[in-house]
Amino acid sequence: MISEKFENSFERKTRTFEYIHYREQVAVITGAGGGLGRIYALELASRGARVVVNDPGPARDGLGMSSAPADQVVNEILSKGGEAFANYDSVATPEGGEAIIQAALNAYGRIDILIHNAGILRDKTFVNMVPDLWDPVLAVHLDGAYHVTRPTVQAMKQQGYGRILLTTSTSGLFGNFGQANYGAAKMGLVGLMNCLKLEVNKYDICINCIAPTAITRMTEDLLPPEFTELLKPEAVSPLVLLLSSRQCPANGEIYCAAGGYFGRIALIAGEGVWFREKSSLSPETLAAAWERVSSLRGAREHSDANQVLLSLLSTQPTQKTNERPNQIPEGLTIANAFSGLEKRFNSKAAQGLEVIYQFIISGEEASEWQVIIKDQSCNVIPGVHEHPTTLLKIDGQDFLLLVSGCRSAAETFAAGKLIIEGRPGPAQRLERLFQL
Ligand code: NAI
Repeated sequence: MISEKFENSFERKTRTFEYIHYREQVAVITGAGGGLGRIYALELASRGARVVVNDPGPARDGLGMSSAPADQVVNEILSKGGEAFANYDSVATPEGGEAIIQAALNAYGRIDILIHNAGILRDKTFVNMVPDLWDPVLAVHLDGAYHVTRPTVQAMKQQGYGRILLTTSTSGLFGNFGQANYGAAKMGLVGLMNCLKLEVNKYDICINCIAPTAITRMTEDLLPPEFTELLKPEAVSPLVLLLSSRQCPANGEIYCAAGGYFGRIALIAGEGVWFREKSSLSPETLAAAWERVSSLRGAREHSDANQVLLSLLSTQPTQKTNERPNQIPEGLTIANAFSGLEKRFNSKAAQGLEVIYQFIISGEEASEWQVIIKDQSCNVIPGVHEHPTTLLKIDGQDFLLLVSGCRSAAETFAAGKLIIEGRPGPAQRLERLFQL
């Protein structure tokens, strides 16, 4: 079997992990009629998944249509005792995307895995890239992801489980001559993942991007033929299978796979420079500091846009640090710190805000507290809320340092002592809400 053959080429130690299977699971793979998608379909089916092999069978540039590629893959799966059916809808339209996912739901009643793999190429240098070359490429890769992912997320949310893989490319992540359309679409998928991961993680839905390299119909004239043996699609599929599994170890991340190499690619933000004297800020002062502005020394990854802001604010030079108290007031406990929050509440700062903060306090005074803000009023209740908007995990001592004004929320966060989950935006308003 394909998976066995491939497993044998790996180090024995990988076998110490639990065998990964997809029994009782349903996988939809777009563009699975050939190339990489075909291998994903065969491998997932060989490990028990029921597979929807989607492919309208166009040529590499997206023109034409044929049911043969998807049918052939389905026949291969069936001949090996697997379960699959073909779907020929195009991902490039909302109706097509809806029809693909609905077909999976009609046949199997659920969808556990979505691999958006469909792709076409229409390369040209940018000035010659007329809309006929731009639009269809964006429609298949980027719009296609939207068209299939949206109905999939609806189904996965109801199930409380799902794994989604989008296919990006080093052409978008790093650039490739003559592929502005393709690169824009592929990088757009990273933006889609970055935002969607924040909405779905509480439903046990993981979404990741893969950047594969393999010699297929798409790349056979772009990659050197001497690498045909090395760059087989089979060398990419272990990553796809792992990220599609219950054991998926990542969420919101980008992984690269090529010829047996696997690695992570990430966006990072440099430390940057704060200018104290705003009056002397000019393009020239910026030019003089350019080496530090552009440096990536000490660069960090951030889990969302709010964390970027919190992190850079935490490095802002401020006189306030010297004015801060340096001791927790005597007798201040977690319980009276929480009951004090209601008195400190600044209702004006809560205009238009409806949020349920769930604090998880660890340490000696470990406890849980809900802070519910609605209609410009604040209600603090001990215990756990079923559906908090924002979860804040913090050690009791760090919480007391925060409420007594010894540390800012941004400093506490930057030091890794405040963990924010769920919607992070409201966490930024804590200081103004409670005049910390
Ligand atoms: P491929 O051309 O063999 O596979 C793409 C499949 O998508 C084809 O079977 C095609 O019929 C199908 N497809 C095209 N338009 C479709 C539509 N509207 N709806 C549904 N299916 C459609 O190419 P390959 O290499 O297997 O590519 C798979 C994915 O990997 C693509 O998204 C590609 O951009 C990406 N990729 C591949 C790389 C490589 O080195 N092969 C490099 C980076 C990314």
